[in-house]
Amino acid sequence: MLQVNSDHPTDADVDRLDPYAFMAVIGKRVIHPGGRRSTREMLALAGLEPGQRVLDVGCGVATTAIEVARRFGCHVTAVDIDPLMLARASANVRASGVGTVAVAKADIQALEFADDAFDRVLIEAVTMFVDRRLAVREVVRVCKLGGRVLDHEFIYRRTPTAEIRRIFEGEVCPGIRFDTVADWLALYQAAGLSSLQQTSGPFSMMTPLGMLRDEGIGNLVAMTVRVAARRAYRRKMAWLMSRMLRVLPFLGYVVLVGTKPTADSSGRLTSA
Ligand SMILES: C[S@@+](CC[C@H](N)C(=O)[O-])C[C@H]1O[C@@H](n2cnc3c(N)ncnc32)[C@H](O)[C@@H]1O
Repeated sequence: MLQVNSDHPTDADVDRLDPYAFMAVIGKRVIHPGGRRSTREMLALAGLEPGQRVLDVGCGVATTAIEVARRFGCHVTAVDIDPLMLARASANVRASGVGTVAVAKADIQALEFADDAFDRVLIEAVTMFVDRRLAVREVVRVCKLGGRVLDHEFIYRRTPTAEIRRIFEGEVCPGIRFDTVADWLALYQAAGLSSLQQTSGPFSMMTPLGMLRDEGIGNLVAMTVRVAARRAYRRKMAWLMSRMLRVLPFLGYVVLVGTKPTADSSGRLTSA
C-alpha cells in the first residue's frame, strides 16, 4: 500500500497513486463503477432499519457510510486499508456531524470482527482488488445469521478483447479480477449466501454525465479546478482518461445481495 500524505502528495506519489486513490485526492466523493445510481439500488435492496449495525468495507472517503447513518439511523463501522482513504473518511465523517459512524483500519481479507457481528455488510468496489474468495468468506463470516451482504463491483458487459483486458487489468488497475454477473453470483453462492438477487448497469463513474450526477456541479467544478491547477494531476488525468475511454464501453457494474442463512430447529440452513 502506497503511503501518501493525503493533503499534499508529491508529484512522484501522484504518478504512483491507484486510480481510486487519485480520485479521492482530487476530491471525488463517489468512487465506484455505478455511481450514486448503483448505491441507491444497493440501499434499496439492503432493508436497512434504525439501530442496525452496518459494516462498510473499503469505505473510501465514507460517502456511503455517512448516507447510511444519516438516512437510515444505523450504526456504521466504516473500514478501509489505505491510510489516505482513512484520513479522508475521518475528515468527512467529522464534517458531516453524524455521530454514528466509526472509522477504522481493516483488511477485507482478514477482518478483526467476531463472527455474526453485523446486521448488514456493504462492499462497494473492493472485492475485485483482492483475493476474492478470502474476502467473500470474511464478509459472510462477520454478517449475522439472517443478515444481508451487499456487494457492488465491476463486470464486463461485453466480452473484452485481450487488448482491453491488458489495458484495464494490467495498466489501469493492476491485479483487478472480475468477469460477469454469473461469476459474482457463483462466488457468493459458494460462500453460503442464499436468496441472491442482483441488478446491473453501465459504468458511469467517469463519464461526463455520471460525474455531474454523482458530484453535483459545485464539486465537479472544484475537482476540475484542482486538476487544472497542478501539472502532476493533469498528467495523471490524461493518462487515465486516454485508457478509460477505450475500456469504458466494455465495463458495467453489478449490485448483488444475499442472505446469510439461519440454522432452523432441524439444523438445516434456511434463509430468513
Ligand atoms: C474503488 S475504491 C471504493 C471506495 C468506496 N467503497 C466507494 O465506493 O466510494 C476501493 C477501496 O477499497 C479499499 N481497499 C483496497 N484493498 C482493501 C483491503 N484489502 N481491505 C480493505 N479495503 C481495501 C481502497 O483503499 C479503496 O478505498
